[in-house]
Amino acid sequence: MKLNIAVLGGDGIGPEVLAQAVKCLLAVEENFGHQFTFTEGLIGAAAMDQTGNPLPDATIELCKSSDAILFGAIGTPKYDNDPNAKIRPEDGLLYLRKELDLFTNIRPVKVFPALINNSPIKRSVITGTDLVIYRELTSGIYFGEKSLSADGTVATDLCRYTEEEISRVAHMAFKAAKKRKGKLTLVDKAHVLETSRLWRRVVAEVAESYPEVELTNMYIDNAAILMTLKPTSFDVILADNMFGDILSAQCNVLIGSSGLLPSASVGTNYAMFEPIHGSYPQAKGKDIANPIAAILSAALLLNHFGLKEEFNAVVAAVHKSFRKKIVTMDIMGSTKYGTSSVGDFISKNIVDVDDNLNI
Ligand code: IPM
Repeated sequence: MKLNIAVLGGDGIGPEVLAQAVKCLLAVEENFGHQFTFTEGLIGAAAMDQTGNPLPDATIELCKSSDAILFGAIGTPKYDNDPNAKIRPEDGLLYLRKELDLFTNIRPVKVFPALINNSPIKRSVITGTDLVIYRELTSGIYFGEKSLSADGTVATDLCRYTEEEISRVAHMAFKAAKKRKGKLTLVDKAHVLETSRLWRRVVAEVAESYPEVELTNMYIDNAAILMTLKPTSFDVILADNMFGDILSAQCNVLIGSSGLLPSASVGTNYAMFEPIHGSYPQAKGKDIANPIAAILSAALLLNHFGLKEEFNAVVAAVHKSFRKKIVTMDIMGSTKYGTSSVGDFISKNIVDVDDNLNI
């Protein structure tokens, strides 16, 4: 298969973890006879420094003319600490999601058997955790009208959803639940928020087309508690933009590191693959950041194009790195391996397709 892939490293550790993902895709290309082309684009603080714009037109054009996008991370302390900033690095990512209409963000969370002792949560609680969060990504409070009063003492962020925005992501989540364990939990705050009540009505209507899926409604506060007490009770979670962001960040704790969880952001015409971690600026350039979330995001890219064997080969190589303890310092306190040596090990082991594991 021929694929043109846009590579948007962004800020902090983004470029160095994405370099490992690209290494792995090059190994897939070589071992499975594909033709991948990689083109780098600017986004975030890196783009602001060079062009004054966190999402230059050239980056949008690159993404639109590519088959898929790999994204690294966004944000730097330099821009974080300016309360009067009119534009921020994060806007680059948000505008890109909106511009490409990447309305569904898929975040799979599966506990890795070899890393079970890395989690601060008891082994008996997390064993068998296998869930996926479907997060609405292009609307809600992230994109509603914002305001700040002239004297700077009152601010608002509007949370707005339409039926159509809810139903399209809900269909994606129900389709996934149908193929998985047939359980879908809609997470909201329907006892307080009007938008949540709209979510409940629309999702209940969509559910009628999926009689084999059992729908449960759950308040976000209960979901946060259950995520720590009984994560195995979840299968597919459907949430709005904000709740999906927070709940998936909580999943980092379950699996014991912020460097492990990948995601796929998909719309009708475009798809972007992004680790769910941040830019971890303190680690930039130190070769200590965990590249697994970026590598697994590349695996999700392969899966998106139906390259199942290739997907399994990358995942199997990742599991092998855990078993052999070729891991960065956030895992098991190991200090022997850096970002690029973990990437080297995984890319060299990508031929190993026997394990047929899933993430
Ligand atoms: C994520 C990140 C982003 C988000 C930030 C960087 C804007 O936290 O992808 O989860 O909140 O969507």
